[in-house]
Amino acid sequence: MGTILVTGARGQIGSDLVAELRRRHGHDAVLETDLHPLPNGGRALYEPLDVQDRDRLDALVRTHQVDTVYHLASLLSATGEQKPDIAWAVNVEGLRNVLEVARSHGLRLFWPSSIAAFGPATPREDTPQEGPLDPITMYGTTKVTGEYLCRYAFLKDAVDVRSLRYPGLISHATKPGGGTTDYAVEIFYAALEGDSYTCFLRPDTRLPMMYMPDAVRATIDLMEADAEDISVRTSYNITALSFSAEEIAAALRKRFPAFEVRYEPDFRQAIADSWPASVDDNQARTDWGWQPAFDLDRMVDDMIDHLAAKLKVAEPS
Ligand code: NAD
Ligand code: SER
Repeated sequence: MGTILVTGARGQIGSDLVAELRRRHGHDAVLETDLHPLPNGGRALYEPLDVQDRDRLDALVRTHQVDTVYHLASLLSATGEQKPDIAWAVNVEGLRNVLEVARSHGLRLFWPSSIAAFGPATPREDTPQEGPLDPITMYGTTKVTGEYLCRYAFLKDAVDVRSLRYPGLISHATKPGGGTTDYAVEIFYAALEGDSYTCFLRPDTRLPMMYMPDAVRATIDLMEADAEDISVRTSYNITALSFSAEEIAAALRKRFPAFEVRYEPDFRQAIADSWPASVDDNQARTDWGWQPAFDLDRMVDDMIDHLAAKLKVAEPS
């Protein structure tokens, strides 16, 4: 087996995905890469890599005998609206670099799309796999472009590239990096630290979500599925649960009765309003057996357990 290279490995998903890949395959089987050199070495197998630098990616693939890439480097939806040129350069040109290196070395590739690929013309409830893709954001535009670049690489050059349209992801290891669903993580930190929380979305804003252990398992299951079971070469719809901002606040208030949440919607409200409220992921369930494990209560309890230990604060009794 060759080495697994992960781009954007120090972000929200990469932190958990690398840990699970190393648990399964061994520490030295996984090469982490991200923008900046590590501050103080450590035992991590790590190389700095800007995905806009195709030559360096190619050299790392050769040196480390890479056979699989999880390409996570990206700007997210909110940052993408503030820096659209960089979002296009990193998300689209970066993906083209990775696809070209994958083609020339025969690599297997995972690349994530997002619910942001959908837009106002998409049915908001149970958004179908083949629903119209009409994003209103630069981030969503890069995701739709990316989906078609992946399918093109599969059809034209037989690159084995697989993809999931992740919903908003909730995790405790690393904070999210500039997305519209970040509130669903920030709200846990506020509740555990005894603060109030000001949510940047309206209380009734309902979005599809998933707990990180489910997302990591889905990602690895997709990559381990038999190629003949993969019928979607753009990106699979995938979901676990949907909740509104006031529903997650209520779930936390059950555990922290004094917890207060205010709502001050900002520019991210329009982004959230253009996304699905719930997603139909039957194709993923049928093709490769996708099944989420965490519902809202189980996720909230698990997040509180882990964050209480991380922040060294008492859990609610
Ligand atoms: P993140 O922002 O937490 O991490 C992204 C990482 O990419 C960061 O560590 C950043 O340093 C790195 N990066 C940025 N520019 C780079 C460049 N030019 N070269 C190399 N690295 C660079 O993002 P995440 O939440 O881990 O998301 C990973 C992927 O999953 C992205 O494609 C994102 O669009 C997708 N996704 C995430 C979510 C979510 O809720 N987290 C939902 C849907 C899709
Ligand atoms: N969670 C991501 C974001 O908000 C969705 O792709 O940008």
